Parts: sequence; C-alpha cells; structure tokens
Amino acid sequence: MKKAICPGSFDPITNGHLDIIERASRVFDELIVGVVVNPEKKCLFSVDERVEQIKNIVKNLTNVKVKKFSGLLVHLMNEENVTVIVKGLRSVSDFEYEFQMASMNNKLDPSKETIFMMAKAEYCYISSSSVKQVAMLGGVINGLVPEEIIPDIIKKINLK
Ligand code: PNS
Repeated sequence: MKKAICPGSFDPITNGHLDIIERASRVFDELIVGVVVNPEKKCLFSVDERVEQIKNIVKNLTNVKVKKFSGLLVHLMNEENVTVIVKGLRSVSDFEYEFQMASMNNKLDPSKETIFMMAKAEYCYISSSSVKQVAMLGGVINGLVPEEIIPDIIKKINLK
C-alpha cells in the first residue's frame, strides 16, 4: 500500500491546498494531511481548529486522514510508516523554499522522498497569508478557500 503525507500549516487551508490533497489522494492509497504545531508562527487558528476544519472539508475523501504534529516531519512519517512527502509548487519562489525543505528532510532521513505537484494555474496566486490579508482588509475571499470555513475566518478576524 502506497502512503504519502501532505504537510503544512494550513492557516487557513486554501482551495490550492485542497486541490493538491484531492489530486494526491487519487495517486496514493492513503494520504495523511499533517497539520503542524508551529510555536514560532502566530497562527489565526489553533492547530485543533485547523484539524477540525480540514477533517470536515475532506470527509468525503475516504483515504485521507488528518493528523496534527509537532517536532520533525520525518519523525511523524516514521510513526505513520510513510516515506513520501507531497507538496504543491506554485512558483519559482516556492521552489527555492521547497527545495531546501526537501533536501533537509532527505538529509535527516534518506528514506524520505518529496514529490511535487504543480499547482493549477487558477490557484497559483493563492496563499494562506494573502487570504488572511484580504479578509482583514474587508475583501471578498469566496473562491479562495473552501466555502465552509469562510464564516470561521471572518469571525476570527472580527475577534482580533
Ligand atoms: O505550509 P507551510 O508553513 O509551508 O508548511 C511547512 C511545513 C509544516 C511543511 C514545515 O515547516 C515542516 O515540515 N515543519 C516540521 C519541522 C521539520 O520537520 N523541519 C525540518 C524540515 S525543514
């Protein structure tokens, strides 16, 4: 059985992330969405909120499970018996960052490989940070993130 992990902050999950998750779930028998607990990053949503949002969004993808993790990704991968990391690539700037992470993970554990999926053109400009910025400045975020989390984003931003 071929398993893979799609790790990220997902603060919040975007339609670009979701497209990669859906496509990866068709390539692998089982896909884990790994939601990072990152104490260095000030997130809009707690890790448990992000996990719940993603679980709800991917509930119809029966081979996808969602797990939070802290510490090294390769440690979670060993616990879950996964060797493949799937990431989406939108741009050359993504490439530099992702190349560094893929190389570091492979250095930490040479059994781990990173596979990249090219983002679809319609999602190339979407990032979690730009979504948050647009929402904070009162812009419309429909079409950028899954519809079901739009009320959560607006509520969180209004509480800030
Ligand atoms: O969505 P993001 O913020 O680009 O995701 C980054 C993530 C979670 C994939 C990365 O920060 C990560 O793997 N963090 C866990 C710590 C780790 O394993 N670091 C070593 C590889 S650089």
